[in-house]
Amino acid sequence: MFEKYREIIPKFDKFLESVKDFRLVSIRANILKTRPSLLKKCLEEKGFGLKSVKWYSSAFIVERKKELVGKTLEHMLGYYYVQRLESMIPALILKPKKHELILDLCAAPGSKTTQIAELMRNTGRIIANDISEKRLKALFSNLERQGVVNVSVTKCDGRKFPKIVKFRKILVDAPCTAEGRSFKERSIAESKKLCDKQYKLLKRAVELCESNGIVVYSTCTLSPIENELVISRILGEFENVRVEKTKVKGIKACNGVEEWKNMKFESSVKKCLRFYPHISCTGGFFAAKLRVR
Ligand SMILES: C[S@@+](CC[C@H](N)C(=O)[O-])C[C@H]1O[C@@H](n2cnc3c(N)ncnc32)[C@H](O)[C@@H]1O
Repeated sequence: MFEKYREIIPKFDKFLESVKDFRLVSIRANILKTRPSLLKKCLEEKGFGLKSVKWYSSAFIVERKKELVGKTLEHMLGYYYVQRLESMIPALILKPKKHELILDLCAAPGSKTTQIAELMRNTGRIIANDISEKRLKALFSNLERQGVVNVSVTKCDGRKFPKIVKFRKILVDAPCTAEGRSFKERSIAESKKLCDKQYKLLKRAVELCESNGIVVYSTCTLSPIENELVISRILGEFENVRVEKTKVKGIKACNGVEEWKNMKFESSVKKCLRFYPHISCTGGFFAAKLRVR
């Protein structure tokens, strides 16, 4: 399994070992409604075991009663959101600030939109867009449950998102083969099929970005075709776009890969971040921070 990544994933045998039984359940305290320490105390009184995450004070790994964590009254009331650890990374890289205008181009069901809204303390405005009506319904219900009031929702093909306003910060959490989440291997052909869409979504985000703004691109897949190749194509097309070095303090990550199979990518893709279970203690994930001049 995943043999095609042996040359790019460090300590590959450990990686294989770690994905065999990877079932991490994690939650994010909703700081619009509660304090993380208060939530921890409350859930522990109900018998849940929660472990703090050193790189994010709002995050907890659920160690006991994990199967029940989506069924509590506190969950229903939006005091926390069940979210994978790696999924919390893009918002931390985007670093949204109060009163900013932010576009979340592929937003549903809203894990990252609600997190961004919290980090902005419900100020400013987030435009949360997605193409899927069904998934947007879930987004609406999550916004409501979490008490988020600074989001406007749009439904359109992100590749054609209207160029009316420019945004200071944009998140492109692209549709992908999700190998890093399911740990089921997908074919190169499947990645190639998605790669053009991912490129077009990111291209539109770059075009919608203010000068000196930031675009964060993320996927939960391992394939360089959906990650470094997409970034490389953008760098080749836009002279005003650079990959900016980034990190999330306290979490170990690997660099983007500069080549794979017969493909060579722009050398600055090494500034992108790759997350693996055996190195970062998260699911597999990719994130890139682009600065648009
Ligand atoms: C990885 S998921 C996003 C997850 C979301 N950011 C979250 O954290 O909850 C990718 C999303 O892209 C959406 N999508 C697929 N094609 C799209 C397109 N052309 N334009 C906009 N959204 C699209 C899918 O409906 C899906 O909701």
